[in-house]
Amino acid sequence: MATSSWHPDSWRSFPAAQQPDWPDLDSLREVGKTLSELPPLVFAGESRNLQSQLGEVCRGEAFLLQAGDCAESFSDLTADLIRDKLRVILQMSVVLTYSAGMPVVKVGRIAGQFAKPRSSPTETVDEVELPSFRGHIINDPVFTADARVPQAERLIAAYHQASATLNLLRAFTKGGFADLQQVHSWNQEFVASSPLGQRYEQVASGIDAALRFMKACGFASEHEPKLHTVNLYTSHEALLLDYEEALTRIDSLTGDWYNCSAHMLWVGERTRQHDGAHLEFLRGVNNPLACKLGPTATPEEALGICDILNPDRIPGRLTLISRMGASKIAEALPPLVEAVRDAEHPVVWACDPMHGNTFTSSIGRKTRHFDDICAEINAFFAVHRALGTHPGGIHLELTGENVTECLGGSSELDHLDLEERYETVCDPRLNASQSLDLAFRVAELLTEKRNSPLTLE
Ligand code: PEP
Ligand code: CO
Repeated sequence: MATSSWHPDSWRSFPAAQQPDWPDLDSLREVGKTLSELPPLVFAGESRNLQSQLGEVCRGEAFLLQAGDCAESFSDLTADLIRDKLRVILQMSVVLTYSAGMPVVKVGRIAGQFAKPRSSPTETVDEVELPSFRGHIINDPVFTADARVPQAERLIAAYHQASATLNLLRAFTKGGFADLQQVHSWNQEFVASSPLGQRYEQVASGIDAALRFMKACGFASEHEPKLHTVNLYTSHEALLLDYEEALTRIDSLTGDWYNCSAHMLWVGERTRQHDGAHLEFLRGVNNPLACKLGPTATPEEALGICDILNPDRIPGRLTLISRMGASKIAEALPPLVEAVRDAEHPVVWACDPMHGNTFTSSIGRKTRHFDDICAEINAFFAVHRALGTHPGGIHLELTGENVTECLGGSSELDHLDLEERYETVCDPRLNASQSLDLAFRVAELLTEKRNSPLTLE
């Protein structure tokens, strides 16, 4: 496959897992045509910048923070929600940068993270069987036959929502909100009064003092854009290939193909087959890419993915995201890391501590425990330290709101609390306090890494 010729639609001759059963292929084609004539959402040059920053992560000089919703919702498009999500990512990022002294590459699961792979194509409730909800870009979560019919026009709605979200993100990140002088104002009220919020305040005060010090030394910080603006890149799972194909364009500067629906795209655990449509599509676009690897992934599979997606071995081109589960990572991850290291494939290793740690709570809610999330991240760092590779980043599902979807954390959410504000349309997300809590723990791991090598138990 990797040597055959590539075109944005060459994936169509390969088996494509997890695609909806479209009732009306004509309207899907029409929608594809409409989308292919709409403006790109991101620019190729931005994707190249991200790839070069991921190259730094690859070399152990920076850390990747990739985070956002499991699935963005068509009913949740408000400025406040977008701002709050950005705010928690910025807070986490300053904690990591300040405590660990490492640049943080910030990538949102945002502005396009709509399509969801499902473990079963149908869902049965009270003996009624309907197609599963596959994300708002495809159908609606309400459990009625009408709502679950895939509708092609939703691809256009998703494009416009991604565009509005990205517009606001660009305004927030470049227009003053992300200015390091605002670092105190990112502390949300419901977090600020807690011990965690106070710990964040100490970091913020430290940053203030550093800025004052630089100014006193004559450093013209008002003219340094890096202190006043932030680069937040976008990413999503490239699952729905009709959408991805329609937004794939030739970059006029380089003549290369880029997927202009997001800066970075990943392929999920359920669609990463070597001979499948998803790898075929992704190998031809020049964006930085990622691939999820679950506990059944073999070293041969991981190496095959490296060869297909990054045959030229470009640092920053490929991120491998392990999502093993806290109880499996110590056994499942080392053979993969060793194989990739020994083959000298330059990859960013990131840890998704969410998707291998999902279970159903006693009250029937899908949830994750903060302790399992931390345990998987600890093990991820231990594996990389033992093997001499860089634990390059974390990949999280979170929101800036005070939701109650994951258990534990500093406010010790328990099973009964899940009923209070369980708002996700798909998987359970960390709330703002749990996210900040996690950032402090990861910062400690990054600092330890510098100070002492760890061995695997
Ligand atoms: C996801 O990232 O939301 C997801 C479905 O992940 P995975 O493919 O690892 O299960
Ligand atoms: Co998810």
